[in-house]
Amino acid sequence: MADNDSIQAGKTFGIGIPQKTEGFFLKGSSQLDWGIKNRLSQIFCVKSGRSVMLAFDHGYIMGPTSGLERMDLTIVPLIEHADCIMCTRGAIRSIVPPESKKPLSLRYSSGTTILTELNDECVIDIDDAIRLNASLLAVMVAIGDPKHEAVTIRNLAKTVDLGMRYSIPTMGVTAVGKELVRDARYLGMASRVCAENGAHVIKTYYCNENFAQVVNAVPVPIVIAGGKKLPEKEALEMAYRAINDGAAGVDMGRNIFQAENPVAMIKAVREVVHNNAKPEQAFKLYEELKRI
Ligand code: R5P
Repeated sequence: MADNDSIQAGKTFGIGIPQKTEGFFLKGSSQLDWGIKNRLSQIFCVKSGRSVMLAFDHGYIMGPTSGLERMDLTIVPLIEHADCIMCTRGAIRSIVPPESKKPLSLRYSSGTTILTELNDECVIDIDDAIRLNASLLAVMVAIGDPKHEAVTIRNLAKTVDLGMRYSIPTMGVTAVGKELVRDARYLGMASRVCAENGAHVIKTYYCNENFAQVVNAVPVPIVIAGGKKLPEKEALEMAYRAINDGAAGVDMGRNIFQAENPVAMIKAVREVVHNNAKPEQAFKLYEELKRI
């Protein structure tokens, strides 16, 4: 029970020392709510301002693709090396140890598979994202797809609204239809549309020319998807160029879990993302770690 007699008057008010008003380390994020910033700080390293997200959500459109046949065997050992994991609610509940301290980027939109037509998506229930303790809601947006652009933008808008209610940030994931070219003009437009619609993080593809223009025209952090499997050295070069052009990290799947040695690969990617390692250095590290 509170004891009124023991209340002591405050004495230490720091008179003359103004309270610090800090900014926030992530691009375009300083005016967000505390809860969103706190979640973003779990995903992005405060020191480097970047993140290595491990993506293994491919099964929701592809089924058991190479490297993901037994996620308990191939993905679980990689989790400790990632800053954040990106997966479906099915994967998180079935194979990710609940003791994991890694923030979850939840695949929040769901829809048609490679066997029909891609991009016809809905979003799952925000209550389930909260139950899963999601730190980020990943929603696919198909800009320029005449059939599915509208529905996917509606999905993004709805996700941002619901996420803001509970301070869970949203990541807009730009999908590229078969007819669309992955150049800076297209990726820049798709990424910017996601940001203007309220996405707090953008995931898009890297393009060899003018990727810095994509990054600079988007007011929030961009992470790159790895895309189809490349030789390890080329994947590290791509990550390096993206970081050099201003990307805030990678959300990489196949180029990690389909590598000859996935643990060595994710460690090499981390060197590029967090320590600005040159691709040659990172590849040398990969080769060394592979032998251990
Ligand atoms: C794509 O929609 C999936 O969400 C993947 O997460 C994404 O493509 C990243 O994986 P990858 O590096 O294999 O392209």
